[in-house]
Parts: sequence; C-alpha cells; structure tokens
Amino acid sequence: LDQTQRAHADQHAWRQREWDNLITEFDRGLRTLFSSARSVRPHPDRHVAEAELSAAEKRHALGLMRVNHCGEVCAQALYQGQALTARDPAAREALRHAAFEEVEHLAWTEQRIRELGGHRSLFNPLWYTGSLAIGISAGLLGDKWNLGFLEETEHQVGAHLDSHLSELPVQDAKSRAIVTQMRDDELKHAEMAHDFGAADLPAPIKNLMKLSASQLACLVAIRRTCGQ
Ligand SMILES: [Fe+2]
Ligand SMILES: [Fe+2]
Repeated sequence: LDQTQRAHADQHAWRQREWDNLITEFDRGLRTLFSSARSVRPHPDRHVAEAELSAAEKRHALGLMRVNHCGEVCAQALYQGQALTARDPAAREALRHAAFEEVEHLAWTEQRIRELGGHRSLFNPLWYTGSLAIGISAGLLGDKWNLGFLEETEHQVGAHLDSHLSELPVQDAKSRAIVTQMRDDELKHAEMAHDFGAADLPAPIKNLMKLSASQLACLVAIRRTCGQ
C-alpha cells in the first residue's frame, strides 16, 4: 500500500509541476505580447550616438527592426513550446536560457523601433501562436530532434541577421550594434544546443525551415510596404 501511495504522490507532484510550467509559460507569453520586454544586460547601443538618417533610410531601418522584433516574438514562443515538451531537465534549462536572452533581444528591438518612430507588428499574437505550436510539436519529437531544431533555427536566424547588417543604412550604428549583438547571441544558442546533443536535421527539413522563415519575412515586408 505504501508503494502505491508513494506512486500516487509522485504522479500528483509531477502533474503539479507540469501545471506550474504551463502557467509560467502562459504568463511569459502574455507578457511577450502585451507588455514591454526588459533587458538585464545593458542595451548594446547605449553608448552609440544617433545618426542623421533621411526619411527613407529611417523607414527602411524601421522596417528591418520590426522584422527582427517579430522574429524575436517567434523565437520566444518557439522556445517556450520546446521547453514545455522537452524531457531532459538540462535540455529544458538550455531552452529556457535561450528564451530568456530572446526577451532581451525583444527589449532592444522594441526600443529601437520606438526611437525610429514606429510601432510593433500588430500581427504578433498570430506569429506567437503559430510558433508556440511548432515548438510544442518539435519538443514531442524527443530531445535530440528538439535541440537539432533549435540549433538549425539559430543558424538560420544568424544568417538572416547578417543579411540585415548589409541592408541597414551604414551610418545607423545604433541598429547595427543591436543586430550584431543579437547575431552573436544566436550563434551561441546554436552552439549550446549542439553541446547538449542536438541531432543534425536532414537537409529537406532544413530547406523547409528556410522556406517558412523567408515566407514570414516576406509577409512582414509586405505589411511594411503597405505602411501599416
Ligand atoms: Fe534572438
Ligand atoms: Fe536565439
């Protein structure tokens, strides 16, 4: 009887923990969407002076930073979803750590968007929900694939941020400082996932991921040109 009672107690504690996790992540999600993110690290552009930008350059930089902000909302949701379904506590911790730094990226891009005179994408809740579902599904495939998905995502985001560095106006050193630090962080996240035993994803999956990422960027870009 003792053993049965203990098994019941264990199961109860496990269920309690799962609920706690779910509630914590839900709370984090609401904060991502509806309040301003805060950064523990100092903003990378804190000592960088604001440059002279023409109206067109400002609009262009704003559009790029808005795409980046939206990408960070997705990263947050993705890692939250992945952490929810990850099995190994160490993998969960790695995902939480990455998600935490994505919140800082959110804070940096959000402030820069404001400085450039814009607002966050109105479609963020939509991106958030989609990414959360993808993250939960990735986690269900098992830790090795879950981390493999994280590693590949970070590589792709890193490459995407590199392309933004060549697109941003040269004199916009503030935006560039933020994007550079974000790129370095994303590559560190990829390394971390690799060290935790990420599997190398098959090439067709990687290509599919590239496709959906570029479609997302396209959608945001369309909104940007529509001036919404
Ligand atoms: Fe990020
Ligand atoms: Fe990242």
